[in-house]
Amino acid sequence: MGSVDDSAPKPSKVEGIKASSDFLRGTILEGLADTSTGAIAADDTQLSKFHGIYQQDDRDLRKERMREKLGKAFIFMCRVAAPGGVVTPEQWLAMDRIADDTADSTLKITTRQAFQLHGVIKGNLKQTIREINESLLTTLSACGDVNRNVMAAANPHESSLHEQSWEVAKSISSHLKPRTQAYHEIWLDGEKVAGRQDEEPIYGETYLPRKFKIAVAVPPRNDVDVFSNDLGFIAIEKDGELAGFDVAVGGGLGMTHGKTATYPRLAEVIGFCRPDQVVEVAEKVVLVQRDHGDRSDRRHARLKYTIDDHGIDWFKDELHKRLGWTLDASRGASFESMSDPFGWVEGLDGSWYYTLFVEGGRVRDHAGKNLKSALREIAASHTGDFRLTSNQNLVIGRVPEDAKDKVSEILSQHGVEDSHLGSGLRLNSIACTAMPTCGLALAEAERYLPELVTDLEALTEKCGVWSDEIVIRMTGCPNGCGRPYLGEIGLVGKAPGKYNLYLGAGFDGTRLNKLYKEALTHDELLVELKPVLQRYAKERESGEAFGDFCIRAGYVKATLQGMDFHD
Ligand code: HEM
Ligand code: SF4
Repeated sequence: MGSVDDSAPKPSKVEGIKASSDFLRGTILEGLADTSTGAIAADDTQLSKFHGIYQQDDRDLRKERMREKLGKAFIFMCRVAAPGGVVTPEQWLAMDRIADDTADSTLKITTRQAFQLHGVIKGNLKQTIREINESLLTTLSACGDVNRNVMAAANPHESSLHEQSWEVAKSISSHLKPRTQAYHEIWLDGEKVAGRQDEEPIYGETYLPRKFKIAVAVPPRNDVDVFSNDLGFIAIEKDGELAGFDVAVGGGLGMTHGKTATYPRLAEVIGFCRPDQVVEVAEKVVLVQRDHGDRSDRRHARLKYTIDDHGIDWFKDELHKRLGWTLDASRGASFESMSDPFGWVEGLDGSWYYTLFVEGGRVRDHAGKNLKSALREIAASHTGDFRLTSNQNLVIGRVPEDAKDKVSEILSQHGVEDSHLGSGLRLNSIACTAMPTCGLALAEAERYLPELVTDLEALTEKCGVWSDEIVIRMTGCPNGCGRPYLGEIGLVGKAPGKYNLYLGAGFDGTRLNKLYKEALTHDELLVELKPVLQRYAKERESGEAFGDFCIRAGYVKATLQGMDFHD
């Protein structure tokens, strides 16, 4: 019998739940059958995440329901993964219909190129998941301690490397999918296949210590925010061909207010691999994290902490040992921007791409702007694809030249023909969902940012920088789902109506921002940002981005790496 190491930290509760879940089954099936409650068992809420499902409740209704002595109004969020965010028109139509039939009728385009359906009640979960799978999309591993939706550059007209990079994203995605049959049993077939033993050759029965995120970027655009991922692949071109990828490890943005041991961190480039080596590299990086990540403290469990605890040289050695070969020297690549190119652009393939701005990523019919209906009508005759961007926007892709006018006409008929126009601030805004569905939100985000941007636009207009691109990102809490620490203006909810203001991120996604002022109200935000914007308008150097200016002008010190984020 092996000896017990008393000094080893105790695994967290979630580790126990995973270990005894029989490969993610838990008692989810029983919970779905229990009509006495709209919830599932507490332990199962941890497991359902691996199936892409978050139990939530409508926080707008909490007070009223408490007064009426009713319990919480339980609803579920279902996240649908699409590698690189690419879906067919048929899949778009399926998502549109499912949103109407069993969710709150809106579609949220997430900052990881996934769809989120909100407001699904327990009794409708099975139908929802089944229909998503019938459209050949899946919610499996869109959340949970596994590799999440693999991101890929969404704007394919700029480089011939996009198509291959998307193929690479798809290969990584399918290689790192969990193999458990639980998903099929619970949501699709309902039956356990007799005698069939589950195996998770990559993850094992306790999966990863924490979520794992991968993105594939194609310079010069860093729309996927590659350095915010645990693992990033940066396409390198040679003589017009894809030579391979620079490999970056250890990014992650979550942190906790007041806990300086938690911090956002950008991935660092450790080498280069050929396209045919990418899947192997991804697997081995995942294995190092599986075996060395912290399983006792979930706030310290991402790869970024494993690397900072052991050192990057240790990490490279571990990786190379498992690979049995050594990554080549990195080739080096530079990025110019994180934003999407809006409007019509001709692709290298001769077809057309229309990128439209989707405020807060929310596709809906609202206030005379009937985006959801417009996209449904476009999808009905579209022969190309749709691409969800990491900035929560949408590309109507591969539109033949002779179908362009029809797309524009449909957008116009539904009041959304100007979806690619707007101020440089608005077009570069991201907001996480926050209220009313996210249980962790300390403040509003998606429902409030548009209003704040409107008031800030009045300032940028007066200063003459209305059309200048300034990246503004807001989240309802410090977890960082809308990547606020990479916003030139980052706003992180601290309490209802109060936000921490961060400044100084790089426009290309290569530098984190830094805390400038704490717990500001709407009016205080305007007061604080007004002189900064005014000075930016007057004093900036040619081509100087807002984040760079904030550092040069001394508003904040540059953040060089995660650990000095709090300095
Ligand atoms: C560290 C702790 C974190 C926790 C506990 C957490 C939890 C959550 C929850 C509960 C939601 C669902 C909210 C809703 O839509 O109702 C969510 C959404 C999301 N999270 Fe996180 N999150 C964390 C960090 C992050 C980070 C660092 C990222 C990426 C940089 C991220 C990416 C996302 C994305 C893409 C969504 C979808 C919604 C959107 O686009 O706004 N999360 N997260
Ligand atoms: S950042 Fe916070 S509030 Fe926003 S979705 Fe993530 S967990 Fe919720």
